[in-house]
Amino acid sequence: MYAGFRRRRSPFEWVCACPYLSTGCTEITMAQVRQIAQLGQPVLRGVASRVSLPASDEVRTLVDDMLATMREANGVGIAAPQVFEPLAVFIVASRPNPRYPNAPLMEPEVVVNPEVMEQAEAVEKGWEGCLSIPGIRGEVPRPTQVRVRYQTLEGATVEKEFDGFVARVFLHENDHLHGIVFLDRLETTRDIITEKEFQARMA
Ligand code: NI
Repeated sequence: MYAGFRRRRSPFEWVCACPYLSTGCTEITMAQVRQIAQLGQPVLRGVASRVSLPASDEVRTLVDDMLATMREANGVGIAAPQVFEPLAVFIVASRPNPRYPNAPLMEPEVVVNPEVMEQAEAVEKGWEGCLSIPGIRGEVPRPTQVRVRYQTLEGATVEKEFDGFVARVFLHENDHLHGIVFLDRLETTRDIITEKEFQARMA
Protein backbone atom coordinates (compact mmCIF):
# COMPACT_ATOMS: atom_id res chain seq x y z
CA MET A 1 0.00 0.00 0.00
CA TYR A 2 1.36 3.45 -0.91
CA ALA A 3 0.30 5.14 2.29
CA GLY A 4 1.69 8.50 1.23
CA PHE A 5 -0.21 8.54 -2.03
CA ARG A 6 -3.66 7.34 -1.06
CA ARG A 7 -6.56 9.58 -2.00
CA ARG A 8 -9.99 9.18 -0.52
CA ARG A 9 -13.17 9.01 -2.59
CA SER A 10 -15.63 7.70 0.00
CA PRO A 11 -15.15 6.47 3.57
CA PHE A 12 -14.83 2.89 2.35
CA GLU A 13 -12.99 3.27 -0.92
CA TRP A 14 -9.58 4.51 -1.80
CA VAL A 15 -8.58 5.74 -5.20
CA CYS A 16 -5.03 4.64 -5.73
CA ALA A 17 -2.93 7.58 -6.78
CA CYS A 18 0.41 5.83 -6.88
CA PRO A 19 3.07 7.59 -8.95
CA TYR A 20 3.32 4.72 -11.44
CA LEU A 21 -0.07 5.28 -13.06
CA SER A 22 -0.72 8.67 -14.60
CA THR A 23 -4.49 8.10 -14.78
CA GLY A 24 -4.91 6.82 -11.22
CA CYS A 25 -6.41 3.36 -10.82
CA THR A 26 -9.49 2.60 -8.76
CA GLU A 27 -8.05 -0.25 -6.76
CA ILE A 28 -9.69 -0.54 -3.38
CA THR A 29 -7.23 -0.93 -0.55
CA MET A 30 -7.98 -2.15 2.95
CA ALA A 31 -7.63 -0.12 6.10
CA GLN A 32 -5.07 -1.44 8.53
CA VAL A 33 -5.96 -3.17 11.79
CA ARG A 34 -3.77 -1.47 14.38
CA GLN A 35 -2.39 -2.66 17.69
CA ILE A 36 -4.62 -1.80 20.65
CA ALA A 37 -2.96 -0.15 23.66
CA GLN A 38 -3.45 -2.22 26.81
CA LEU A 39 -4.06 -0.84 30.31
CA GLY A 40 -0.68 0.19 31.66
CA GLN A 41 0.42 1.85 28.44
CA PRO A 42 0.98 5.57 29.24
CA VAL A 43 -0.96 6.67 26.11
CA LEU A 44 -4.19 5.57 27.84
CA ARG A 45 -3.54 7.94 30.73
CA GLY A 46 -2.68 11.07 28.77
CA VAL A 47 -4.94 13.89 27.58
CA ALA A 48 -5.65 13.84 23.84
CA SER A 49 -4.85 16.86 21.68
CA ARG A 50 -7.45 18.76 19.70
CA VAL A 51 -7.55 17.91 15.98
CA SER A 52 -6.84 21.06 13.98
CA LEU A 53 -7.83 19.67 10.55
CA PRO A 54 -10.68 17.11 10.90
CA ALA A 55 -11.06 16.84 7.11
CA SER A 56 -7.41 15.98 6.45
CA ASP A 57 -6.31 12.73 4.78
CA GLU A 58 -4.31 11.84 7.90
CA VAL A 59 -7.40 11.94 10.14
CA ARG A 60 -9.44 9.96 7.60
CA THR A 61 -6.77 7.28 7.39
CA LEU A 62 -6.67 7.10 11.18
CA VAL A 63 -10.48 6.77 11.36
CA ASP A 64 -10.51 4.03 8.70
CA ASP A 65 -7.89 2.11 10.65
CA MET A 66 -9.81 2.64 13.91
CA LEU A 67 -12.99 1.26 12.28
CA ALA A 68 -11.14 -1.82 11.03
CA THR A 69 -9.48 -2.33 14.42
CA MET A 70 -12.76 -1.92 16.31
CA ARG A 71 -14.65 -4.30 14.03
CA GLU A 72 -12.02 -6.99 14.24
CA ALA A 73 -12.07 -6.80 18.04
CA ASN A 74 -15.91 -6.74 18.27
CA GLY A 75 -15.89 -3.31 19.87
CA VAL A 76 -18.84 -0.90 19.92
CA GLY A 77 -16.53 2.09 20.09
CA ILE A 78 -12.87 3.00 19.97
CA ALA A 79 -10.86 6.11 20.78
CA ALA A 80 -7.69 7.25 18.98
CA PRO A 81 -5.46 6.93 22.10
CA GLN A 82 -6.34 3.21 22.07
CA VAL A 83 -4.40 2.90 18.80
CA PHE A 84 -1.52 5.03 20.16
CA GLU A 85 -2.70 8.30 18.56
CA PRO A 86 -3.26 10.88 21.31
CA LEU A 87 -5.85 12.86 19.33
CA ALA A 88 -9.41 13.90 20.19
CA VAL A 89 -11.14 11.43 17.86
CA PHE A 90 -13.37 8.48 18.61
CA ILE A 91 -15.99 6.27 17.01
CA VAL A 92 -19.33 5.27 18.52
CA ALA A 93 -20.69 2.23 16.70
CA SER A 94 -23.19 0.32 18.78
CA ARG A 95 -24.29 -2.92 17.13
CA PRO A 96 -25.07 -6.40 18.40
CA ASN A 97 -21.95 -8.59 18.36
CA PRO A 98 -20.50 -11.46 20.42
CA ARG A 99 -19.12 -9.03 23.05
CA TYR A 100 -22.37 -7.02 23.29
CA PRO A 101 -25.24 -9.29 22.17
CA ASN A 102 -27.94 -6.79 23.20
CA ALA A 103 -26.42 -3.57 21.83
CA PRO A 104 -28.67 -1.44 19.59
CA LEU A 105 -27.72 -1.13 15.91
CA MET A 106 -26.56 2.27 14.60
CA GLU A 107 -24.45 3.73 11.82
CA PRO A 108 -20.91 4.38 13.09
CA GLU A 109 -20.57 7.97 14.31
CA VAL A 110 -17.15 9.56 13.95
CA VAL A 111 -16.60 12.15 16.67
CA VAL A 112 -13.85 14.79 16.46
CA ASN A 113 -13.07 17.37 19.17
CA PRO A 114 -16.10 16.53 21.34
CA GLU A 115 -17.58 18.61 24.13
CA VAL A 116 -20.23 17.35 26.54
CA MET A 117 -22.68 20.25 26.79
CA GLU A 118 -25.19 18.74 29.19
CA GLN A 119 -25.73 15.49 31.06
CA ALA A 120 -28.93 14.11 32.58
CA GLU A 121 -29.01 14.09 36.37
CA ALA A 122 -30.42 10.57 36.20
CA VAL A 123 -27.68 8.00 36.43
CA GLU A 124 -27.94 4.33 35.55
CA LYS A 125 -25.52 1.48 36.08
CA GLY A 126 -24.69 -0.65 33.05
CA TRP A 127 -22.07 -3.20 32.02
CA GLU A 128 -19.03 -1.97 30.15
CA GLY A 129 -15.90 -3.52 28.81
CA CYS A 130 -12.94 -2.03 27.03
CA LEU A 131 -10.68 -3.28 24.24
CA SER A 132 -7.75 -1.95 26.27
CA ILE A 133 -8.82 -3.93 29.37
CA PRO A 134 -9.62 -7.43 28.10
CA GLY A 135 -11.07 -10.17 30.29
CA ILE A 136 -13.22 -8.13 32.66
CA ARG A 137 -16.45 -6.13 32.77
CA GLY A 138 -17.63 -3.51 35.20
CA GLU A 139 -21.04 -2.12 36.07
CA VAL A 140 -20.49 1.60 35.58
CA PRO A 141 -22.80 4.44 36.64
CA ARG A 142 -23.36 6.95 33.80
CA PRO A 143 -25.85 9.73 33.01
CA THR A 144 -28.78 8.31 31.01
CA GLN A 145 -28.70 11.13 28.44
CA VAL A 146 -26.15 13.58 27.05
CA ARG A 147 -26.16 16.61 24.78
CA VAL A 148 -22.88 16.86 22.93
CA ARG A 149 -21.13 19.01 20.35
CA TYR A 150 -18.39 17.78 18.05
CA GLN A 151 -16.94 18.02 14.56
CA THR A 152 -17.51 15.58 11.73
CA LEU A 153 -14.87 14.30 9.31
CA GLU A 154 -16.05 17.00 6.92
CA GLY A 155 -15.21 19.60 9.55
CA ALA A 156 -18.83 20.56 10.27
CA THR A 157 -19.84 21.23 13.87
CA VAL A 158 -22.89 19.27 15.00
CA GLU A 159 -24.87 19.13 18.21
CA LYS A 160 -26.69 15.89 19.12
CA GLU A 161 -28.39 14.09 21.95
CA PHE A 162 -27.79 10.47 22.82
CA ASP A 163 -29.41 8.30 25.43
CA GLY A 164 -29.16 4.86 26.95
CA PHE A 165 -26.43 2.55 25.69
CA VAL A 166 -25.26 4.96 22.98
CA ALA A 167 -24.83 7.76 25.55
CA ARG A 168 -22.87 5.27 27.65
CA VAL A 169 -20.54 4.41 24.76
CA PHE A 170 -20.10 8.12 23.92
CA LEU A 171 -19.11 8.94 27.51
CA HIS A 172 -16.83 5.89 27.76
CA GLU A 173 -14.96 6.91 24.58
CA ASN A 174 -14.91 10.56 25.62
CA ASP A 175 -13.26 9.50 28.88
CA HIS A 176 -10.44 7.91 26.85
CA LEU A 177 -9.59 11.40 25.53
CA HIS A 178 -9.01 12.49 29.13
CA GLY A 179 -6.94 9.52 30.25
CA ILE A 180 -9.89 7.98 32.12
CA VAL A 181 -10.92 4.32 31.85
CA PHE A 182 -14.18 2.72 33.03
CA LEU A 183 -12.46 1.24 36.10
CA ASP A 184 -12.02 4.80 37.39
CA ARG A 185 -15.82 5.28 37.30
CA LEU A 186 -16.80 2.20 39.32
CA GLU A 187 -18.53 2.68 42.67
CA THR A 188 -16.74 -0.36 44.05
CA THR A 189 -14.38 -3.05 42.77
CA ARG A 190 -17.18 -5.50 43.65
CA ASP A 191 -18.88 -4.32 40.46
CA ILE A 192 -16.17 -6.07 38.39
CA ILE A 193 -16.84 -9.50 36.89
CA THR A 194 -14.89 -11.64 34.45
CA GLU A 195 -15.68 -11.67 30.73
CA LYS A 196 -16.55 -15.36 31.04
CA GLU A 197 -19.08 -14.65 33.79
CA PHE A 198 -20.50 -11.75 31.76
CA GLN A 199 -20.99 -14.01 28.74
CA ALA A 200 -22.64 -16.64 30.94
CA ARG A 201 -25.08 -14.04 32.28
CA MET A 202 -25.91 -12.81 28.76
CA ALA A 203 -26.58 -16.33 27.43
NI1 NI B 1 -12.56 1.66 26.22
